[in-house]
Amino acid sequence: MKDYEPNYSGEIMMKFANAVNMVHNVLLPRIYTAGCMVDATAGNGRDTAFLAANSPDDALIWAFDIQKEALEKTRTCLQEQGQEKKVRLILDSHANLPLYVRQPIDVAMFNLGYLPGGAHQNTTQADSTLQALEAVLTQLKAGGLISIVAYPGHAAGKLEHEAVRRYLSVLPSPIFAVGSWSMINQAHEPPVMFLVEKVRSEFRERPAPC
Ligand SMILES: C[S@@+](CC[C@H](N)C(=O)[O-])C[C@H]1O[C@@H](n2cnc3c(N)ncnc32)[C@H](O)[C@@H]1O
Repeated sequence: MKDYEPNYSGEIMMKFANAVNMVHNVLLPRIYTAGCMVDATAGNGRDTAFLAANSPDDALIWAFDIQKEALEKTRTCLQEQGQEKKVRLILDSHANLPLYVRQPIDVAMFNLGYLPGGAHQNTTQADSTLQALEAVLTQLKAGGLISIVAYPGHAAGKLEHEAVRRYLSVLPSPIFAVGSWSMINQAHEPPVMFLVEKVRSEFRERPAPC
């Protein structure tokens, strides 16, 4: 049974809000019609399963993780839902995404950090996260969305959060709309959600007026 049921009535239940739930709420309308999606950090498989359960039957989902254990958990999660046919599980860093994903991307999720209850040294790292983001941005369709949840509450996560914020904040605004959200009255630096939408496929400089 799901332990979180998103509320799509338009009412935001702040009491239950966290960055991961907010991401699911925001992405859902795009997932309904998506063809190609990426879960850059499969982990326990909850995000991959969410993408699979809510997408069209012919959607394809690429799920990356560097830990075999994580991909096994993801496989089990998908099998329980009967959704494993839609998903390609890739035991490799998301930095190598261009080696696998060749088609335009509708939706990509990055839930950064380490597996809850797992070894902290397997946490995502700023350098490879930025490489993967760059790769996804290059292949993102116009109208496509990327979500990133960063965890500034631990040392590597703090550096990664700052690197992601710096990187996203200089994306060209005529092409990408970028925002962030977090709870601001919680202790211990709560997770931060970033969202990137590709609002048009290219940007042409306007000719200077004569
Ligand atoms: C917070 S967990 C992801 C949670 C997951 N999305 C879920 O729904 O359960 C972060 C995951 O990122 C994985 N990871 C770390 N570095 C990675 C990399 N370079 N490429 C892909 N996955 C990576 C970790 O092994 C871990 O399983």
